[in-house]
Amino acid sequence: MSQIYRAVAIDGPAASGKSTVAKRLAESLGLVMVNSGAMYRAVTWQVLQEGIDPENRAAVLEAMSRMRIDCGVKNNLSTIAINDRLLTIEIRSAGVNEHVSKVASIPEVRESLVAMQRDYLGEYDVVMEGRDIGSVVFPDTPFKLYISASEEVRAARRAKEGESDEVAKRDAQDSNRKASPLKVADGSIVIDSSDLTIDGTVEAAREALIKLGWKD
Ligand code: DC
Repeated sequence: MSQIYRAVAIDGPAASGKSTVAKRLAESLGLVMVNSGAMYRAVTWQVLQEGIDPENRAAVLEAMSRMRIDCGVKNNLSTIAINDRLLTIEIRSAGVNEHVSKVASIPEVRESLVAMQRDYLGEYDVVMEGRDIGSVVFPDTPFKLYISASEEVRAARRAKEGESDEVAKRDAQDSNRKASPLKVADGSIVIDSSDLTIDGTVEAAREALIKLGWKD
């Protein structure tokens, strides 16, 4: 009989703290942490590298059809490489921040990346963070969290990280697009991290998972 793997889905807007929570949960629960946003960022980075207009859907899809995208795992964290180049810090650039929502709004881009996201569950127990993990990628998992924070708090967090990122604009684009918009998936527990420390948010997430039936 093939093994059944478990998925924890964490969704939320930019800079809500979901990556940190996902990483900490992965460490304490022995899961692989998958950053799905990194996949949209990697495709966007490659598109920009090739000098393609991210608004030109046909050109983006043509470029994507030529990309060899490798999703892996290292030290229990997801990795992403395009055409054998492992992408890390470069996908956090201001240019990628500015254009990623456009690329992520293309249904065919999403379809390809969602398939790669689901493949992780064939091999690992995962905690995956993104925008549509509970609603589209793993709608059947009982373990769904939605982490939010006020717009001011999120903008301040990005500024502290030294990143130029118009989170409000990106969130508006991610929430208003037709294909798999950011929303609170049915069955999610919502955690507002605005007034919580990192430890407090992780603790709230752990308690929420137990409420949802998580057993070690
Ligand atoms: O999580 P992040 O901020 O690194 O994600 C970057 C962008 O990727 C985000 O603005 C929208 C897109 N994204 C998405 O559409 N769906 C996901 N599951 C994850 C990210």
